[in-house]
Amino acid sequence: MHDYTLCRNFAAAMDNMISVIVQDSKGNFQTIEAPTDMSLSLMEVLKGSDYAIEATCGGMALCATCHVRVMKGLDQLKPQNNDELDMLDTLPTLYPESRLSCQIHISEEIDGIEIKLFH
Ligand code: FES
Repeated sequence: MHDYTLCRNFAAAMDNMISVIVQDSKGNFQTIEAPTDMSLSLMEVLKGSDYAIEATCGGMALCATCHVRVMKGLDQLKPQNNDELDMLDTLPTLYPESRLSCQIHISEEIDGIEIKLFH
């Protein structure tokens, strides 16, 4: 394969990538990249990036162990559905920016959001 082809393939792959800024529980920030063309949730991307997200229900909005706070870009997200709202209501501490990361679909619309983790 020629270098030009590799560069073109790399550029095409980067077209399908977004950035998410992650603050861990110790206050460390890291920007992670996520592909928009693989039907991933934010929870799956966080787990794939080795963050300690339990996600015990596997992304079905039944456990709330994927709870994150969206510190920037909350208005870029689709509103919560009833399942997410019901599960968020079970949390001992709920913030206005609380979301279930398993219910956030990785898409161009959320490029650049900043989230804060609890663990
Ligand atoms: S993984 Fe269970 S609610 Fe998100």
